[in-house]
Amino acid sequence: MHGKGRVNRQGGAAARQARTFWVLMLAGVLMLAGVLWWAGKQAEVSQARFANLGGPFTLVDHDGRPFTEKDLRGKYTLLYFGYTYCPDVCPTELSIISETLNLLGDLRQRFRVVMVSVDPERDTPEVLKDYMANFGPEFIGLTGTPEQIRSMARNWRAFYRKVPGEGDPQAYTMDHTATTFLLDEQGNYVRHFAYATPPDVMARALRDIVGSQQARQEQRAQTTERAAQGDPS
Ligand code: NI
Repeated sequence: MHGKGRVNRQGGAAARQARTFWVLMLAGVLMLAGVLWWAGKQAEVSQARFANLGGPFTLVDHDGRPFTEKDLRGKYTLLYFGYTYCPDVCPTELSIISETLNLLGDLRQRFRVVMVSVDPERDTPEVLKDYMANFGPEFIGLTGTPEQIRSMARNWRAFYRKVPGEGDPQAYTMDHTATTFLLDEQGNYVRHFAYATPPDVMARALRDIVGSQQARQEQRAQTTERAAQGDPS
């Protein structure tokens, strides 16, 4: 009787320990699920915020030729809103993009850089052409009528406004969004980079994206090929 009781008590302690273990495990699993759900929700929110960026537009490039959303196809595009008279922000970001391309090696051939001028008053195609040449052959400046620019900026939720200078009415500056948007080879938004993201960080991200999109395309091509050959695997 006595011995059996002790076994039971010991058995009870072991069972309690096991119960505590499972309760903690369950709490841990629930907590992890909660964190994952929250992270997923956040990702969804930020996706939704940017999912419908872009759309049709008509502007003119720095050679005076029409440039529309169709001209964003065939290469990856780094899209930026700025202006040539910008004292610091634009030269900084465009230099960062230029340095990023230098880090990409052969991959740079798959990219173009487009700066949409938020200062069409001063940024004529000629002015833009001179300016963009400072950064590299992939750099294309776009301008247009104030209405065309406004519509394009609205498509990308880019903000800009004129800040009057002292005295000389031509000495104004522009406040503007300094985000760099990445578009895929179909001209669709992929992601964006905050102002002054370091070139090595940006280059790594671009490599990863091109690599993963390529892997997906190859996988799709293989699946299509197998399907065409009647192979069910
Ligand atoms: Ni600027």
